[in-house]
Order: sequence, then structure tokens, then C-alpha cells
Amino acid sequence: MGDEERFQRRVRSFVRRPGRLTEAQRRALQEDLPRYAIQPALDDVRSAFVRSAPLVIEVGFGNGEALAWMAAREPEHNFVGIEVHEPGVGRLVRRLDELGLDNVRVAMRDAVEVLGGQVAAASVAQIRLYFPDPWPKKRHHKRRIVQLEFISHVARVLQPGGLLHMATDWEPYARWMVEVAEASTDLVNLGQPFVECPAWRPQTRFERRGLGRGHQIFDLLYRRC
Ligand SMILES: C[S@@+](CC[C@H](N)C(=O)[O-])C[C@H]1O[C@@H](n2cnc3c(N)ncnc32)[C@H](O)[C@@H]1O
Repeated sequence: MGDEERFQRRVRSFVRRPGRLTEAQRRALQEDLPRYAIQPALDDVRSAFVRSAPLVIEVGFGNGEALAWMAAREPEHNFVGIEVHEPGVGRLVRRLDELGLDNVRVAMRDAVEVLGGQVAAASVAQIRLYFPDPWPKKRHHKRRIVQLEFISHVARVLQPGGLLHMATDWEPYARWMVEVAEASTDLVNLGQPFVECPAWRPQTRFERRGLGRGHQIFDLLYRRC
């Protein structure tokens, strides 16, 4: 099977909707994204940075609000943000430019492909996955990003002692995350099974939405052994 065929066959965790771009987002994608973008041909995302520093990856950063906040608060880290939603990428790169941050790079592709093909083994300090789409209907569970394949990419790219931090406001998905992560003998749960929200995670847009609906928030932390 060729790459193109494999690309089309895999069940994806997102549906590409042609989001409406504001004029500012369109300009940001044209003018700012080239400075931050990780090209699909790059075989190690670390080479997109000028300096070497411990690497944190945020998968599905949405509008990038949390990522920009974390990158400003953690100048000692390099961040790779992965997101397929163009308006969100536009907002993030505009914000990075406003804040003058140079410790973030952005891959506008399917995170499973980026983790599988552009991230070297044992090269990542942390992976952060906040409020991924819960796909609540049973027939859509196969679309959830947290699957055995995703977790095996995570276990491969995390360095020993590296952390996987996940958060969700959908309790059945929280239980699903525990079940899938626990199938990996490389990851150790640091909670019981949940943890208090670590200080590095700000409230995200989708978290606010969940709280507004009366949902409880679940944070999970795993260490790569
Ligand atoms: C529910 S939103 C959460 C956004 C943000 N983390 C927050 O908490 O506000 C999930 C995001 O993940 C992105 N996403 C889903 N699957 C993805 C994938 N395989 N690769 C990259 N981004 C993905 C979606 O485009 C969407 O923006």
C-alpha cells in the first residue's frame, strides 16, 4: 500500500471542515506561518528550532490560546503544536508574533502522522493532549485520537521519564484513556487514576465549554519508564 492510499484509508479523529478564515487569520497564515511551520518533509521536528531545548508537543491545540500561554511561561522548553484546523493555526501564529515568541513551531497535519513520521524515538520530554474531541457516539469511538496506535507512538517518542498529560471533560472518554494507556507496558499512571490539574496547564477554551455544561474535569498523567 502506498503512502497516499494509507493516508486515505485510516480513520481520522477529525473531520476537515472548511472553516471560515477571518482576514487577520488569512494574513497570519500567509505572512506568519512560514516562520513557524514544520514542513511535512522534515524528518525530525527538533531541526525546526534554532536552539536545542527539552521538547513539549501539544496535540490538537485548537485556537492556540493555551499553547501561547504555556510557551510564554516555559521559555526553557521548545514547543511543537499540532493542529489541522486552519483558523486555529492562524490565530496561534498571529499570537506568537504579537508575543515575540520563538520557542514554538507548528505542524498543520494529522498528529498521528506527525508523531509516526517526524518525531525521533526518545526525543520528547512531554506530550500534552487537552480536551480532544470525545466522539461520544459508540459508532464514532473509532475516531477518538486516543487509540493503541496513538499510545504506541507516544511511548516511542517520549524519552525515559517523559510525561504524557491528557485532560478531558467527558468522563467516559477519561475512562477510555485509562484503559488504552494501560495497555502499554511502557507508561506508568502517576495518579489514582486521575491527578489534580498540574500548574502548567491553563484553562482551555474547550474546558470552559465543558465547565459551562456542568462537566467535571479529568487530568491524567503518565510517565514513560
Ligand atoms: C475539542 S478541540 C480542543 C482544542 C483545545 N485543546 C482546547 O482544549 O480548547 C480538539 C482539537 O483537536 C484537533 N484535532 C483532532 N484530531 C487531530 C489530529 N489527528 N491531528 C491534529 N489535530 C487534531 C481538532 O481540529 C480540534 O481543534
